[in-house]
Parts: sequence; C-alpha cells; structure tokens
Amino acid sequence: MKISQRADNIPPSATVGMATRAKQMSRQGLDVISFAVGEPDFATPEHICQAAYQAMEAGHTKYTAASGIPELKEAVVARLRAEVGLSYDADQICISSGGKHALTNIWQTLLDEGDEVIVFAPYWVSYPAQIQLSGGRAVTVMTDASRGFQPDPAEVRSAVTPQTVAILVNSPANPTGAIFGQETLQEIAAIAAENDLTIISDEIYRNLIFDGRQHLSIAMLDEETKARTILVDGVSKSYAMTGWRIGWLIAPKDFATKAGSIQSQETHNPCSIAQYAALAALTGPQDCVAAMRDQYEQRRDFFVEALRQLEGIECNTPPAAFYLFPDISAHLGRSLAGQQIDTSLQLAEYLLEQGLISTVPGSAFGAEGFLRLSFACSVEDIKRGLQRLKTALEI
Ligand SMILES: Cc1ncc(COP(=O)(O)O)c(C=O)c1O
Repeated sequence: MKISQRADNIPPSATVGMATRAKQMSRQGLDVISFAVGEPDFATPEHICQAAYQAMEAGHTKYTAASGIPELKEAVVARLRAEVGLSYDADQICISSGGKHALTNIWQTLLDEGDEVIVFAPYWVSYPAQIQLSGGRAVTVMTDASRGFQPDPAEVRSAVTPQTVAILVNSPANPTGAIFGQETLQEIAAIAAENDLTIISDEIYRNLIFDGRQHLSIAMLDEETKARTILVDGVSKSYAMTGWRIGWLIAPKDFATKAGSIQSQETHNPCSIAQYAALAALTGPQDCVAAMRDQYEQRRDFFVEALRQLEGIECNTPPAAFYLFPDISAHLGRSLAGQQIDTSLQLAEYLLEQGLISTVPGSAFGAEGFLRLSFACSVEDIKRGLQRLKTALEI
C-alpha cells in the first residue's frame, strides 16, 4: 500500500521503542529491569479513580465541548494561580489528549511550511518529529552538562534566522532534569522580544522539582513575555495519570480558539471520563503530588550516588523530573563481550540484550555519548539494575 513521504520521514519514538522491546522481552519470561520508561510507577491516586467511576455513573459518557469541559478549564486556571501566581482566563485553554497532543495542536496552529523553531538539545524525542510533521524545522542549539544544560544566549541569537517563528523551552527538562535559571529565561525572553518570536514553554514536570526549589515559568517574568508565551502542562507526570491522556495548552485567546477548531476536526474532545478524573486531580487533595515527588527525590539521591561510583560514568544531579542523564562516552569505542560498542544506541542495545536493563540512548535526544536512565521505579530495581550495569560494563 502507498505510504506518504510524510509518514516515511518520521522515525518512531525511540523511548516508546525501547520500552516496547523491554516489555516484549518481559513477556517472553525474561527479567528485564526498565530504566527506559518516562512514566510514574505509582498507581493513579484512589480519589481520582473514584471520580472517573462517578463520572460514568452520572452519564458523562458523551461528547463534550471539543476543547474540554469548562469546569476543567476553570480548575487549570485556579491551580496555576494558586501554585505560581499566573492569571489566565478559561477561554485561553484547550484541553487535549495529553501534553503530546497539546503540543501537536500548537505546531498545527503556529507553523507554516519552512518555519523554524529553536529547540535546545538534549531535547525530548518527540519535539523535532512533531515540528517536522507540521511542515516546520527544528533548529537545535546544543547545551552541555558542564553548564548544567543551560543554553548559551550567544548561540541562541545566532540560531535565529528570518524563518524563525518560535523558541521552545522545556524547564524542567526531559531528558536532563535541568531547570533554566532566571537569567537564562530572561535572555531567552529578550531574544524572543527582539525577534518577535512565540515562546512555547512545556512545563509538564513543574511539580517534580527537588531540594525545596520553586518552579519559575518564563511566563512569570513580565506581562510582555507572558503575552507571547504558550504554556503546556497536563496530569500525566504530576498525578501518575499517563494512561488517562489529559493535557492542555494555555495561549492568547485567538490562538487557543484556533487550536480548539483544529482539535474539533481531528479528534473532537479528549475522553470525557478522563476529563472528570483530571478535574478531581486538580481540585482534590494535593498531598499525593508531594508524596510522589519526595519518593522520586530519595530515589534520585540513591541512584546518582551509586552511579557515580561506577568507572567511566559521569552524572549531574538533576534538580527535577525523574531521569538521570549520565555521560557514558568513556565506554564508547570499547569491545564488550566480543561486541564493538561505538554509539549510545549500540550500548543501549547491548545493555538490553546482555544485561537485561532497558535504557534510552542519548542519540535519541540529540546528544550522543549519553544514556537516559529513568528512576520512576523502585529502589530495589535501581539496586539490581546497577549491579547488572556494573557486570555488563565489566567494571
Ligand atoms: C517533555 C515532555 N513533554 C510532554 C510530554 C507528554 O506527556 P503526556 O502526553 O503524557 O501528557 C512528555 C512525556 O513524556 C514529556 O517528557
């Protein structure tokens, strides 16, 4: 059957690919330890599940408004105001089937053929592919571990061309867990203002910040920056609700309305029952969010400390999210168990097949020489996985 050029040019998500392979191996009875997944290992809190049962009993099983139920939009507004002091109107919101879907709506609404978006690498795997699918081009600006993955403003400036329409900020970031400091955000806001660019700020990890630090959104800097910023958020990571598929964008009203029109043609509303569950998440008790965050923080401390004991592995302590992003370049160019390992992909494949540990190669995030290890798993699994890593790397 004919396949379009568009479909042919898009690689499958590497993170989903590694997680799927690990699951297949587990189904074959192999005891694979997964450091590949980007989702909480906690169950969705009970009061949220109860809200979904009640929504079904109350008959909320029909189409809703395409851009989401008004109560959920109001809840998003209230939570953002309470947590970070940002004020929006409900009609600036479009609720979608996950943050990923909110992002695809943004690219569809924003980009014309050939438009460029500045993306900081290491980047979340889906950004370049999503931008490409909407006719745009991701222009990457590299950041490095020695600077805590903060971009150099001079490099951002030189990446701007007449085709640039937007800068994408993901703070806290996947895969590095990095947080952009106030100065960095101010520099990005200044570059956006000088060139009249839209800022897309993906803040899906904003509730998973450690060491008592507070979230700083680029939209909090000043009113002008807020007016040119589109926020992306959702319930997946904060409330352990990845499967429910609820996320949203917050943008100037005309942009949010257009995004809602696109969604009305593509998918109509996100799942009605999941919207009521998300409503319960945002309006119910928030101690579950803090409790999960505290657990991630403990796991991070244990994992990073133990990982640093391994020879040839250098690792920053991520201030947020649930990933370690160690530099493993010292192990490239080696021969392990008779296999030549020259790339992070080859190392990840070797670790999966020989060590039964699934990881994601840095190359998937635009950063060769690194691996992403998720600590959204038990300390027991982290301990066993580290032992296997040590054995597989023969160190
Ligand atoms: C940086 C980032 N943004 C957005 C998403 C999308 O999350 P979801 O579609 O589950 O809401 C993810 C998921 O891994 C992510 O890591």
